[in-house]
Amino acid sequence: MWKWTTIREKDDLREEQRLGLEIGPGPRGSREVENKDGSFSEVRLTGTKYACGRGGCGACTVMVSKRDPTSQEIRHFSVTACLVPICSLYGAAVTTVEGVGSMKTRLHPVQERIAKSHGTQCGFCTPGMVMSMYTLLRNHPQPSEEQLLEALGGRSDLRPGGGTCQAVPRARVRREEQQAPGQGLHLCSCLKLFVKEEFQPLDPTQELIFPPELLRMTENPEKRTLTFHGERVTWISPGTFKDLLELKAKHPEAPLILGNTSLGPAMRSKGCLYPILLSPARISELNVVSKTNDGLTIGAGCSLAQVKDILAERVSELPEEKTQTYRALLKHLKSLASQQIRNMASLGGHIISRHSYSDLNPILAVGNATLNLTSEGTRRIPLSEHFLAGLASADLKPEEILESVYIPHSQKWEFVSAFRQAQCQQNALPDVNAGMRVLFKEGTDIIEDLSITYGGVGAATVSAHKSCQQLLGRQWDELMLDEACRRLLDEVSLPGWAPGGRVEFKRTLVVSFFFKFYLQVLQELKKLIKPFPVPVNRFLSALEDFPGTVPQGVQRYQSVDSHQPLQDPVGRPVMHLSGLKHATGEAEFCDDIPMVDKELCMALVTSTRAYAKIISVDLSEALEIPGVVDVITAKDIPGINGTKDDKLLAVDEVLCVGQIICAVVAETDVQAKRAIEKIKITYEELEPIIFTIEDAIKHNSFLCPEKKLEQGNIEEAFEKVDQIVEGEVHVGGQEHFYMETQRVLVIPKTEDKELDIYVSTQDPAHVQKTVSSTLNIPINRITCHVKRVGGGFGGKIGRPAVFGAIAAVGALKTGHPIRLVLDREDDMLITGGRHPLFGKYKVGFMNNGRIKALDIECFINGGCTLDDSELVTEFLILKLENAYKIRNLRFRGRACLTNLPSNTAFRGFGFPQGTLVTESCITAVAAKCGLPPEKVREKNMYRTVDKTIYKQAFNPESLIRCWNECLDVSSFHNRRKQAEEFNKKNYWKKRGVAVIPMKFSVGFAATSYHQAAALVHIYTDGSVLVTHGGNELGQGIHTKMLQVASRELKIPMSHLHICETSTAMVPNTIATAASVGADINGKAVQNACQILLKRLEPIIKKNPEGTWEEWVKAAFEQRISLSATGYFRGYKAFMDWEKGEGDPFPYYVYGAACSEVEIDCLTGAHKKIRTDIVMDACCSLNPAIDIGQIEGAFIQGMGLYTTEELKYSPEGVLYSRGPDEYKIPTISDVPEEFNVSLLPSSQTPLTIYSSKGLGESGMFLGSSVFFAITDAVAAARKERDIAEDFTVKSPATPEWVRMACADRFTEMVYICPLPLEPPSHPTPWAIFK
Ligand SMILES: Cc1cc2nc3c(=O)[nH]c(=O)nc-3n(C[C@H](O)[C@H](O)[C@H](O)COP(=O)(O)OP(=O)(O)OC[C@H]3O[C@@H](n4cnc5c(N)ncnc54)[C@H](O)[C@@H]3O)c2cc1C
Ligand code: FES
Repeated sequence: MWKWTTIREKDDLREEQRLGLEIGPGPRGSREVENKDGSFSEVRLTGTKYACGRGGCGACTVMVSKRDPTSQEIRHFSVTACLVPICSLYGAAVTTVEGVGSMKTRLHPVQERIAKSHGTQCGFCTPGMVMSMYTLLRNHPQPSEEQLLEALGGRSDLRPGGGTCQAVPRARVRREEQQAPGQGLHLCSCLKLFVKEEFQPLDPTQELIFPPELLRMTENPEKRTLTFHGERVTWISPGTFKDLLELKAKHPEAPLILGNTSLGPAMRSKGCLYPILLSPARISELNVVSKTNDGLTIGAGCSLAQVKDILAERVSELPEEKTQTYRALLKHLKSLASQQIRNMASLGGHIISRHSYSDLNPILAVGNATLNLTSEGTRRIPLSEHFLAGLASADLKPEEILESVYIPHSQKWEFVSAFRQAQCQQNALPDVNAGMRVLFKEGTDIIEDLSITYGGVGAATVSAHKSCQQLLGRQWDELMLDEACRRLLDEVSLPGWAPGGRVEFKRTLVVSFFFKFYLQVLQELKKLIKPFPVPVNRFLSALEDFPGTVPQGVQRYQSVDSHQPLQDPVGRPVMHLSGLKHATGEAEFCDDIPMVDKELCMALVTSTRAYAKIISVDLSEALEIPGVVDVITAKDIPGINGTKDDKLLAVDEVLCVGQIICAVVAETDVQAKRAIEKIKITYEELEPIIFTIEDAIKHNSFLCPEKKLEQGNIEEAFEKVDQIVEGEVHVGGQEHFYMETQRVLVIPKTEDKELDIYVSTQDPAHVQKTVSSTLNIPINRITCHVKRVGGGFGGKIGRPAVFGAIAAVGALKTGHPIRLVLDREDDMLITGGRHPLFGKYKVGFMNNGRIKALDIECFINGGCTLDDSELVTEFLILKLENAYKIRNLRFRGRACLTNLPSNTAFRGFGFPQGTLVTESCITAVAAKCGLPPEKVREKNMYRTVDKTIYKQAFNPESLIRCWNECLDVSSFHNRRKQAEEFNKKNYWKKRGVAVIPMKFSVGFAATSYHQAAALVHIYTDGSVLVTHGGNELGQGIHTKMLQVASRELKIPMSHLHICETSTAMVPNTIATAASVGADINGKAVQNACQILLKRLEPIIKKNPEGTWEEWVKAAFEQRISLSATGYFRGYKAFMDWEKGEGDPFPYYVYGAACSEVEIDCLTGAHKKIRTDIVMDACCSLNPAIDIGQIEGAFIQGMGLYTTEELKYSPEGVLYSRGPDEYKIPTISDVPEEFNVSLLPSSQTPLTIYSSKGLGESGMFLGSSVFFAITDAVAAARKERDIAEDFTVKSPATPEWVRMACADRFTEMVYICPLPLEPPSHPTPWAIFK
């Protein structure tokens, strides 16, 4: 079914429609749509998800179809719905995921493939993914790899849990191999994770046609001006160019709205309000393209995607020398934002926005582009540095409109290039970009004209005009290069406090880019001037960029025993139960629940101070805002307001920016948000304010006592070793970035103070308990429901209880249901994440690499409350030894108390940070011994049955097998040699390889956490309802539980169903965390099923040939209970910290990963060539789901160690509050070759069918990419004769890599001093660099 919008003129638009939320999820996605008979009905389209609201993640992708009035062709293009104003859709058809296919009608091949090839996990972003692929196929039924990458490459919804990372390697050639039991990894049979032959073929003729009603509209286009009135905004859409010009003259302050990708985010996050918006969408004059002999004129209304096609066509038509500027523009158009943004954003909007990071303006400026302006008359202005700086004399007049842009052809002896470096290859704003052009005197290498502009190095695009002028007449040689660099550094000044930070890096890029340009031009000159001196080949590696490639991979797993009955699904790659519903958008998340009667919205008011006394809170203005019902403060809490140190709502003082002070309740979300702006809070600053670990140590500011483990005699051992090395390691924090932000719906019932709470949480019992104590009502009145969660990663263990409790106070006070949905910005600001870590090590070792003594001290930044920081410290210390047997050890850890939002649980719980210290230490030992790191790892690894530092016995056999298999399947030694060869031949590119072992302890170190319950009902028709205490977070727990129930009851999975996790069905559950969800709940489900089967046994014995339905019927007639609770009384886990001994973990997961990368020493960029993971999953319950967990965790770990960087202002305000500033991996970050193998079975008697929990462990294996990068950096440093023992800092961002590969250009930056800091800005822009 097509969903298209018929917008009526003079409609009263609701405010949120102006902001483009009309296709969002949940009640906000509901819209009245005009029926053919003129009546209105509500369509609830919840498939399209809302995850960032800034066009940055792609979760809200839909397809828009429009007919071009001139060519009459219908254009289909993907857009991010969150930035599409409803009025811009006049005459357009919008296809949401519901229009593509559904479980009720027919699945689209894209939906079928993504689900059946296990491309979904939590499924929150899957509809957006489907729509990107669907749009691609509508335009290109046989897409090329490049088109596929382009369609998916710019998406940020790659948070594992979202599953995109799985979809992509599988989108291409899949070579699944399966091991027969007991055979080595290389023996493969032909079974597969999915059966390709089952898939329906794509039949483009089956797609729906463009709605005839809209066709008729375009045949006879409306020329009248259309006006739509909103509450505060009027949208005017003229039908002719003349009307547009008149309107612009009448409303000079009104912006033109095209793609809304610049205006929209500004309206949303900066609160800009434009009472009148002029939409030129129907003005064909703005889309005219004309080619002349000397250039190309492109209408300002053309989208960037159209500009790309126009340029590509021109490049194919013209000789190379004429298309230098066009090719430079094309290069950036490939990586600028995502496909959806390029489809929406206009050339005019891009130029006029004059963002300092603009990727196109620097090239247009050096390419001598001119702007054709129109008002009453027309005039032409150059797209010059003055225009870009916004100087009035060189700018548009308020009544002028940019009609088109003229870009001249380049000429012979002229060369144009473009450069950009961002945190990630795709979908990331550039740190620095540049456009460079040189023109030589014909037949010579004498510079006749030179222009260079940079983006990202100031408030606007900056031209290095002076430097260029001074270089005219110079020869293109080394002397010129040297002088140019010095002049450029002098002219393109960037103060130390410059917004965006990364000052030294940016300055280095300024000269590194010029060096690249220098080499490129040399290569071109070589073709024109003979003979011409050129640099030796090994320096030419500076020239190559890293091209995007569609990743591919092999997944290997063990087949089930050939005697296993076909009906028994355990061990088979069963599709995620919700996979198809994820792909069709029918899977319901918390905020998809329809609006309930009298529902109100809640928005939170948070502290703007890091540590202060609250002097007063003035609510009066906020309460006057229409629609505002109440403001909830701590005084409204009838029960307990959190704990002494961790209040739900602040009382007298605030401890961090982002702490919740009060909450506004209003009729709509928009009114509530408007009201929070009006609440006036006065503060009195307190001291000391502490943000960093360093400051906390200085002020002795800690959350809990030190945790320590020690064995052997470390002091004595240090005296006997050959060498001692000391070092420091910094590991940055990490934002959970679950795709579904925190959200809760609290529905008060009329009787007995009962409450129903629908919440996105990993721990509904904790929400229930917290609401109970906050409201002072017994737990039995409160029911928490969790259908599914759009990713949690630990971030939804503790915090949902806070939001649930505050919303419940609102519900109790107002008597209304309350919905609280956090925006991405608020979610990132309020909730903490992974603890940043600072580690110091001292290691004593023999010259052969044998480590004799290791002393590690770690500090983590816990933030302003205890939360899970003590537990994280304990886990960190317990797991620090990783896979190594070192006789003399001392591990100490402390959690720092700082004025930042409290950090909390995160996948791996301290292990990924702490173990990076251990592995860095091993790398340092290897460097000192002149040995490859893998040799030192091998030498110190556990080999035989042994005891850990806390005296728990274990058998490392699987660890060694994983390690050896990993070396083998990755051809490690060969590839190490090849990388060394490559490095000898290439000066500016270096390859690094690393293989990392892992021993990961699973579970909680407390007995009470190892219990679970389940409830299984058999109904009289034979269908079975299973409920258990685990929550579906995308990890496939419900699928696994039904596999268990199916095996135990010996019935097909189709008889079984799980509805939700509910505290009314299974009480006193523990958080779904620590990788044990399936282990413990599986045992509980097994127990319940076994009880039921035992009850049925006499009936089955009596009628062995009967069917399941007959047995159930007979049981009912014989009054046998068909309902049973199952219970699992799990492992006894304990840890005695006094003695340093215990049995804290039920078992270990072993693994190893090998990664190879290539770095660009000049920019700090890297590409991931290949990763091989071997993981000991024992007898996997579901290899498809488990491999997905491993892949997902690995990608998330890779993000932690390479791109994800949290930055705070010196006042403690988190800057990185969305996908534009905080870079989680995109599809282009997946290793080009990504192979995962499950080790043939080992046995774990403790767990359900000898399976292992794999939720967290893969995270740390992402560090293999980190160590491959540091290996490459070490190779560069060695060649440049710089010390190899450099400070290890995670994430290894392009900034860190570039600055670590020190060379003549970094040296120039340090020599050429920064401009003086103005006294008002004594501090750098950001802390935690
Ligand atoms: C998620 C995301 C990622 C991005 N990534 C990148 C990136 O990597 N690199 C990069 O360079 N940019 C990036 N951008 C910025 C993007 O390129 C610009 O926002 C976009 O080009 C603006 O075009 P628009 O049509 O959406 O402008 P709008 O938002 O519609 O308008 C912007 C401004 O231009 C004015 N305007 C528009 N057309 C005209 C005209 N014809 N005459 C006069 N005034 C006019 C309007 O009055 C308005 O003030 C990104 C944006 C988003 C949302
Ligand atoms: S919600 Fe629209 S792009 Fe993220």
